[in-house]
Amino acid sequence: MIIFATMTKKKKILFICLGNICRSPMAEAMMRHLAAEAGRSDEFEIASAAVSEEEWGNPIYPPAAEILRHHGIAYDGQRIARQMKASDYENYDMIIAMDEANIRGIQRIAGGDPEEKIHLLLDYAGEHRNVADPWYTRDFKTAYEDILKGCHALLATLPPSKSK
Ligand code: 4NP
Repeated sequence: MIIFATMTKKKKILFICLGNICRSPMAEAMMRHLAAEAGRSDEFEIASAAVSEEEWGNPIYPPAAEILRHHGIAYDGQRIARQMKASDYENYDMIIAMDEANIRGIQRIAGGDPEEKIHLLLDYAGEHRNVADPWYTRDFKTAYEDILKGCHALLATLPPSKSK
């Protein structure tokens, strides 16, 4: 018996920030939420990581978790920060940075960007600038709005899978 399966390769997206406790976990949760709202969850594998090892093993920063909760966005509280590995470059289709310094860090870890996988999140929204970093400003609302804008635009850029 031949089983016809609609095998569509998932698009693997890795969001990156400096510590992987604020911006990139927010982006991970928000992108998953937007994909689910659009009925497209099964098209993506979404994760996040850090360029630094500063926060390795730490959970999402409480104010970042709080603003997600405030907007009804689920976040798996079990997940902890990790640093990006060179092999992530091969494993993911898109490596999405929150700021320009992250891009330099990703390139250092990956040894360049031969497949042009590394992108700045807000470029998708037509704004070549960094996501507001809430670490020193404590402004999680502006960071949330920037990330939401970028994730919306990123999802709109990715064509829906043909298996639907
Ligand atoms: P994130 O925020 O990169 O958005 O996770 C930061 C977390 C930690 C530090 C800086 C930013 N830090 O300097 O330890």
